[in-house]
Amino acid sequence: MNVCVLHNEVAPDAGPDEQDVLVQAAEISEALKRLGQAVSRTAADLECARALAAVRRHSPCLVFNLVESLAGSDALIHVYPGLLEAAGIPFTGSSAAALFLSSNKLIAKRLMACAGIPTPAHIDLSDCRPRVSAPGTYIVKSATEHASAGIDDDCVIEIASAADADAARTTFARRFRQGLFFAEAFIRGREFNLSILEGPGGPEVLCPAEIIFGGFGERPKIVGYSAKWDAASSEYLHTPRTFAFGESDRGLLESLKTTALACWREFGLRGYARVDFRVDEDSRPWVLEINANPCLSSDAGFMAAAHASGYGPDSVIERIMAASAQEGALS
Ligand SMILES: Nc1ncnc2c1ncn2[C@@H]1O[C@H](COP(=O)(O)OP(=O)(O)O)[C@@H](O)[C@H]1O
Ligand SMILES: [Mg+2]
Repeated sequence: MNVCVLHNEVAPDAGPDEQDVLVQAAEISEALKRLGQAVSRTAADLECARALAAVRRHSPCLVFNLVESLAGSDALIHVYPGLLEAAGIPFTGSSAAALFLSSNKLIAKRLMACAGIPTPAHIDLSDCRPRVSAPGTYIVKSATEHASAGIDDDCVIEIASAADADAARTTFARRFRQGLFFAEAFIRGREFNLSILEGPGGPEVLCPAEIIFGGFGERPKIVGYSAKWDAASSEYLHTPRTFAFGESDRGLLESLKTTALACWREFGLRGYARVDFRVDEDSRPWVLEINANPCLSSDAGFMAAAHASGYGPDSVIERIMAASAQEGALS
C-alpha cells in the first residue's frame, strides 16, 4: 500500500518544538517501510493546493497526518485534515472537527464543562472585561498553541481582581502572539498523561504516566518550554516520567482512565490521543488538555506509554493505520 507521510513544513531556524515533526516523519516512515508499505513524504504549508497536488501525485491509499501547525501556528491544525476529508483521501488520526474542537483549549474547556468532564476554572483574557469570580493562583497559557510554547515560571501569577486580570492581559499579549490566551486556575499537585491507542476492541488506555517534579524548591512545578525541549536544562532533567505506581494509587488511576475515555468519546477521537491531567491535593483529577495528535517520536510520552504497555512502534503505527478512515482498504 502507498502511504504518504504528510507533515508541516519546518523553517530551518524553527525551535526544537517545531523541528520535532521531522523526527516523527523520519521515524514513522521507517516504521511504515518495516511494515512493508511504500512510503512517500510531503511537506504542507499555506499553499494548500500545491501540497494537495503533491499528495495526489503519489496516489496514496492513506495519508499519515503529522501536520501539527501551519505558518508557525497550531491554530490551523485542522486545515489539512479538512481538505483531505473534502478530497476523499483517507488519513490517520482524528477528524478535522475533532482536532479543531480539542486543540483550541477554550473551546475544549467549554465542551468538557458541558459533558461534566472536570477542567480547571479559567478567566478568558481575550475578553476586554475579564471577570474574576475566584481570586487565586492562575497559569497564563495560549488557547491554541501547544508544546508548552511560551510557558515559563512567570506564567504562574496571582489574580485577585479584574485589574490583575487586565494587567495579565497586557503583559502576556506580546508572548502569545495569536491573541488567544487565558488564565487557568493553577492546580498544585501531581501531573499525569494518559495515552489512548485505538485497537480492534475500541480505544485502549495505555499505562498511565506521571511526571515527577524533583528539586523544584519554591519554583512552580510545571512542564514549561525548557522542561520539554531543552535537554540540558535543569527543568528537563528534573521532570522524568514514571509508570510505576503503588497500590494506593489504584483508585486514582482508574478515575483518570475513565475520564480519559470520556474525553475520547465526547470529542470523537480516532486512532490515538493523549490527555494531560493535574490531580489536586484532594486527589481530584482535572483535565488540562486533550491532544488529539500527540507527538509520536520515540522519546515522547505516547511511545513511552505504548512501550510500557507492551506495544512497539510498529504495532502502534499499524493500529493507528487500521483505525483510520478507510479500514476496508487496509485489509
Ligand atoms: N491549570 C494548570 N495547573 C497546573 N499546571 C498547569 C496548568 N495548565 C498547564 N500547566 C502546566 O503547563 C504544562 C503545559 O500545559 P498544557 O495545558 O498541557 O499545554 P501544552 O502541553 O499544550 O503546551 C502542563 O504540562 C503543566 O505542567
Ligand atoms: Mg500538555
